[in-house]
Amino acid sequence: MALIYRTGLILLALSMIALPEFSSAKAQPTHLNLWYAADPTDPFRTVLESAAGRFNAAHTDLQFDPRPIAGADYNAQLQVAIASGNPPDVFSTIGGYELQTLVRANVVREIPELSDEVRRQSAPGAFDSTTFDAKRYAIPTTLAGVFLWYNADLFQAHAAELPTTWSKLIDACKQFKASGIIPISLGNQDKWPGALWLASLTNRVEPTAPLMNGVFSKPAYIQASQKIQEAVHTGCFPDNFNTLSDTDARLLLANGKAAMQLQGSWNLGGLKQANQGLTQTSLRTLLFPTLEGSQGDSRRLVGSAAQSFAIAAKAPSGTGAALLELLSSDAFNQALAENDIISARLGYAQAVHDPIVKQMALRLAEAPSLQLYDDQRLPPEPARVQLSTTQQLFALTLTPEQAADALDQALTLNAQNTPKAQNLQNPQSASPTPATSAPLRQLAQAHGIYIGAAVAAIPLRSKTQYQSTLKREFNMLTPENALKIGVLRPTRTSYNFTDADTIINFAQANGMQVRGHTLVYGKYLPDWLNNGRFSRDELLAILHEYIQTVVGRYRGRISAWDVVNEAVDENGTLADTLFLRTIGPDYIEYAFRWAHEADPQAQLFYNDYGGEDLSAKSNGIYTLVQDLHKRGVPIDGVGLQMHLSLVKPIKMADVAANIERLGALGLQVHITELDVETKGSASSQQDQLTAQANIYHDVARACLHSSACKAIITWGFTDQSTWLIGDTPLPFDKNYQPKPAYYALRQALLES
Ligand code: XIL
Repeated sequence: MALIYRTGLILLALSMIALPEFSSAKAQPTHLNLWYAADPTDPFRTVLESAAGRFNAAHTDLQFDPRPIAGADYNAQLQVAIASGNPPDVFSTIGGYELQTLVRANVVREIPELSDEVRRQSAPGAFDSTTFDAKRYAIPTTLAGVFLWYNADLFQAHAAELPTTWSKLIDACKQFKASGIIPISLGNQDKWPGALWLASLTNRVEPTAPLMNGVFSKPAYIQASQKIQEAVHTGCFPDNFNTLSDTDARLLLANGKAAMQLQGSWNLGGLKQANQGLTQTSLRTLLFPTLEGSQGDSRRLVGSAAQSFAIAAKAPSGTGAALLELLSSDAFNQALAENDIISARLGYAQAVHDPIVKQMALRLAEAPSLQLYDDQRLPPEPARVQLSTTQQLFALTLTPEQAADALDQALTLNAQNTPKAQNLQNPQSASPTPATSAPLRQLAQAHGIYIGAAVAAIPLRSKTQYQSTLKREFNMLTPENALKIGVLRPTRTSYNFTDADTIINFAQANGMQVRGHTLVYGKYLPDWLNNGRFSRDELLAILHEYIQTVVGRYRGRISAWDVVNEAVDENGTLADTLFLRTIGPDYIEYAFRWAHEADPQAQLFYNDYGGEDLSAKSNGIYTLVQDLHKRGVPIDGVGLQMHLSLVKPIKMADVAANIERLGALGLQVHITELDVETKGSASSQQDQLTAQANIYHDVARACLHSSACKAIITWGFTDQSTWLIGDTPLPFDKNYQPKPAYYALRQALLES
C-alpha cells in the first residue's frame, strides 16, 4: 500500500513538472490526501466518502482524496509516511501523546480555523484529547465514551438498586454475588479494560482529573486504586478476570451471566452480535457511579473524539478551511447520526436510531469534559507501567501506594529524558529527586542480586559513553569473548590476556563482579584445537593446563565461572562436541573439578541456551546438574542464557518453575545472556519496543521471584554493540539512551 501511495506521489510530482507545457489549459485542482483509520465494514467509510464526493463536486480548486486504512495497519502506514517526510495532508488521530509528539516535531499544525462558533457547536469535551497549550490541533468528528453497561432484567429480577453511587455499586456486587450472578464482567488479560476502571475512578476522585493537566496527583491515584481493590475484595469480578479476554467478558454480559460491565460505547457491536435480543430489550448504560464525598460534575466521562482530523504542517494553505467545511456540513453529521455513529457536533443525537447509542450520544454531548484513556494520554513507558501496575492492583499483588510510586517513578524518568522545553506532558516532574533516578545496580543491590552486561574490549577502551553507562548501571560484567579459548590462546603455545585484563581491571576499578565466560565450549574453537586430532589423554592434558592457567590467573577476581557451556542438545542428551567425541561424557566433571582446584572460592556454573523453560532440553540440563551435584562434583549453579525473541514467545510460568526446581537442588541460577531479538516481528516499532520491554520485565520478575536467582546479565547493553548484527535486542539504544526495556528492568526491580 505504501508503495502504491509513493508511486502516486511520484506521478503527482511528474504531472506538476509537466504543468508549464499546458499553461493555457485550465488550472489543475490541488489534491488533498486524507487518510483515516476505518475497517472495511465501518459505516464511517461511506459517510466520509459521500461527504468528500459532495465537497469535490462543489469545488474546483481543492479536492479531497480520502483513503481508509484498516485500524490494525493504520499507525504503521502513517508512521512510514511521516518518517519519509510525506505525511498525508490530513489524517485521523486518536490525539493524546501520539498527536502531541507530532506537534513537537512540527509534523502537524495548529488549526486556528476552528472558530469559537465551531466550538460552541461541538460537544464541550470534543477537543480535550487534541488540545495542547490551549492550541487546537485537530477537528473532531465522532465521540466515544466509557459507560457502565448493565442488564436491566437482572437488576429487576433481583430487585437490585441501580449503582449510581460507589456504595450502591458495592451493594449490588454483594447482592448479585449472593445470588450466583457475576456482578461485573471484566476481561483484563490485555490490561486496558481494567485501566478503564482506574481512569473512571480518578475522574471521579478529582474534578481536575489527575494526570490530565500534566499533574500527577498521588493521593487521588491512591484513592482510586483503593476503590478498585475494594471492588476486588467484595467479589465484584469473575474469578479469573485477569486472564479472561475482553471478548469473553463481553459474552458474560451478553449471555446474562454477569449483571454489569464497564466498557466503551464501542462495546455495542460485539454485544449485538452475541445476543441481539438482550440489546433490544434489557441492555442499558449508566454514567460511572459518583463517589461519596467527591466533588465535581458527575457527567464527566472517560472517552475521546475517536476520529479527529489533524492537518500536516506542509499541507497547502486553504486545507484548514476546506476540511472544516467538509466535516461541518449538516449532511455529513446527519449521516453519521443515521448510521448510529456519535457525532462530535451538537444537535445530532436525536437523529440516532439505536436507543442505546442515542442515550450515550446525549450524555457525550453534555459531558463537560472527556478524559482520554491513560494509555493514549501518557508517553509509552509510563503508559506501559500504568497498565501493568493496574493489572497488579486488580490482582492485589501491589498496594495502591506501590502502584502510585511506580507510576510516579515512570513519569519522573520520562520527564528527565524529555527536554524541558518540549515537555508538555508532565511539567511538574521536570526536576527529579535523586532517589527516583536510582540506577539499576543500586536497585539490584537492594535485592541482593547482581545486574550485569556482557562487554567487548574494543568499545570499552575507546568509547567513554560505553564506559560511563556500564559504571553507572551495572555491578557485574561478563567478557563477551575475551575469556574464550580462541581469544586467550590463539595458538597452542601462546596466551593473550590483553582483552581479558582490560575488562577485568575495569570491573575491579568500578566495584563490579566478573563472570568468567567460558572454559569449555564446543563452539568458536581455534583451528589448532579443532583440527589438532588430539587423543583423549592429550586433550585432557590441554584442558587441565588451560583451566589451571586461566582460572589460576584470575583467582579471587572472577566470582563465577561458566565452566561448561552448551553441552546439552535439544533432546536433552549430550551435544556432539570435540570434547564429547574425544574425551567422553566425563569431560564435564573433569572441568568442574579442575576449576575448583584452581580457585576454590569461585562459583562454578553450567551454562546453556534454550533450556530456560520446561522442555526436553531443560530436563536434560536438570538431570545433568542433579547428577553432578549428587556425586559431589563442585557445581554451584546453572546459567540460563535467555536469548529470547519477539516472535518465539516463552512461557514465563515455565521459566519460573524451572528456576524453582534448580533452586530446590540447592543450586543458584544466573540469567546470563539476556537479549530479545526483534527480527521477524511485523508490529510497529513502538509495539516492538513495548513487547520487548514486557519480556525484559517478566524475565527480571521471574528471577526476583526466586531466592535461587542471583544475577541478571544482558548480552551487551547497547544496540550499538550486539552479536545480533542489525537487530536492536538490548535495553539501551545505539546512542546509549534507555529504551522501554531499560525502564522495564527498573520497574521490575522497584516492584518486587
Ligand atoms: C557470542 C558472542 O556474542 C559473539 O560476539 C561471538 O562472535 C560468538 O559468541 N551463547 C554464548 C555466547 O554462550 O558465548 C555467545 O557469544 C552467544 C551464544
